Amino acid sequence: MVTDGRSVQELRWWQKAVFYQVYPRSFADSDGDGIGDIQGIIDRLDYLHDLGIDAIWLSPHYPSPLFDCGYDVSDYTGVAPEYGTLGDFRRFLDGAHERSIRVIVDLVLNHTSDEHAWFVESRSGRSNPKRDWYIWRDGRDGGPPNNWASCFGGSAWEFDPVTGQYYYHYFFKQQPDLDWRNPEVRQAMFDAARFWLDLGVDGFRLDAIGTLLEDPALRDHRSELSVAELCYARCTASSREERARLVEQQGAMFPYQKDQPGIHELMRGLRAVTDEYPDRVLVGETGEIAYYGEGDDELHLVFNFPLTKTEQLTPAWVIANQRQRLGALPPKAWPCNTLGNHDCPRVCSSFGDGRNDAELARLSLALMLTLRGTPFLYNGEEIGMTDLPLTSACLFRDSMGIWFHSALIEELGVPPELALDLACRYGRDKCRTPMQWANAPNAGFSPAGVQTWLPVNPNYAQGVNVAEQIDDPDSLLTFYRRMLRVRKETPALVAGEYTPLSGGSEGHVAFLRSSEADGQSCLVVLNMENQARTLSFDLDARTARPLFSSHPRGSDTDDLSQLSIAPFEVYVAELEGEVGVKSQPSSRQGG
Ligand code: GLC
Ligand code: MG
Repeated sequence: MVTDGRSVQELRWWQKAVFYQVYPRSFADSDGDGIGDIQGIIDRLDYLHDLGIDAIWLSPHYPSPLFDCGYDVSDYTGVAPEYGTLGDFRRFLDGAHERSIRVIVDLVLNHTSDEHAWFVESRSGRSNPKRDWYIWRDGRDGGPPNNWASCFGGSAWEFDPVTGQYYYHYFFKQQPDLDWRNPEVRQAMFDAARFWLDLGVDGFRLDAIGTLLEDPALRDHRSELSVAELCYARCTASSREERARLVEQQGAMFPYQKDQPGIHELMRGLRAVTDEYPDRVLVGETGEIAYYGEGDDELHLVFNFPLTKTEQLTPAWVIANQRQRLGALPPKAWPCNTLGNHDCPRVCSSFGDGRNDAELARLSLALMLTLRGTPFLYNGEEIGMTDLPLTSACLFRDSMGIWFHSALIEELGVPPELALDLACRYGRDKCRTPMQWANAPNAGFSPAGVQTWLPVNPNYAQGVNVAEQIDDPDSLLTFYRRMLRVRKETPALVAGEYTPLSGGSEGHVAFLRSSEADGQSCLVVLNMENQARTLSFDLDARTARPLFSSHPRGSDTDDLSQLSIAPFEVYVAELEGEVGVKSQPSSRQGG
């Protein structure tokens, strides 16, 4: 259990902040070319400030041939020309900082684009000085060096006829892996990090951090299925258990390609570079707690991805996740929660149930903002954007979706309609569509008549847009803004310890967030069912003062021995008087 005891003033900025991921290609198009850009983000900084977020995670803004939507970087110290210039980036950073919004950028360390000058040199000849910056090996028995797969399908090795050797790529072959065992690579990438730190960025989101090192002995994995077969099985599995088993099997495919010995020493090196600068943060794209190191010598934050590995955020799931996760954190480590990003289904689509999606979207946010740890939100979730299934494979922009679609048809013989449906669901375009700013052509993302880089979700015309929600007291956007404000004004929700008050079987989640240092204790109840209930809490405090509710509440003080909670209610209240837990609570159902 995290027992830190610091007051909210004593916390670092990234422990208090709510982060918001901006996917630059889809955020706001200022010059009408159908592609988001940095000026577009600058124009929306006031929106973000009013929303109440404290920090932006900007997905890659670097020059890139865009084989993996910017996660194939061809210049680590530049800005993609279609997004703007370095000058624009500086104005963006200054504009954010003027509004007290911090900015972290995405750092893609594992691989470069195959068009990066380093790789162009490396592949040009076996004796080129940059040859050893990448992982080149001879083939085995007329084929690749071993049986390793790329997580995006096919072999992880690509034969290069120029020099007659294979190079290694964990992702697409357009994303050759750097050899992190080479000190020159470390130096060059640490220098790229310093470039942005010197410019004033507040830290990094570290892409695919577990893939930096590979087993030097190149041992074969023992999986019998191909990546395509596993993905297909996952998409068509009928039960959660089945899916969980397949996810596990997929993990077993990469025992020698991920999380290898030596990685923590690298993380300490990266932390040391970051610590050359005051007050910066490293957030790892991994769910592995080991990346916190001792709690203060590796990454500052590691995503609680296990929380998302479910179809429904049931009370039992949430409570068990917190027990496991908080129980496993090293001392001084700070949790970090998220439910959505540019790689997975949108929160509304994945944790909705098709009937109560609006209520469940509110509960999902409430969970992020009341659990202990730093929350990360994804652009568009605040207005309830949903996944957009594309109607034809020729609209796909995500190479992973394109690969999966053709693998389904060509490798697995799946009929075309089913292949399209599965590729839409497994591919990542669905959650990357343009931000919906207004009920206007192109949702106000691009001017009318412009063809946007991915289709706009037509549900902008059904209220899923910023302009129509911003002044509507009942909108999801208003709910986000209200809740973000309450979190900011309530020290216990930021600094407080977490104590569960429900076991998980009851249909609701209840817990305390108590900060002795701040002299505040809050009761949080999230009713995840369409059923009113009366709860009875046996706490030292007999009464509580509601700070926030998704539903109108009758009085300024609630009796904790008979607390009525409406269906799907989000309830946050400050305990009055003594703060403590006497015994387990009991609850009654009823109206
Ligand atoms: C990370 C990114 C993902 C990308 C991959 C390869 O998982 O989030 O979008 O495809 O790394 O860089
Ligand atoms: Mg690697």
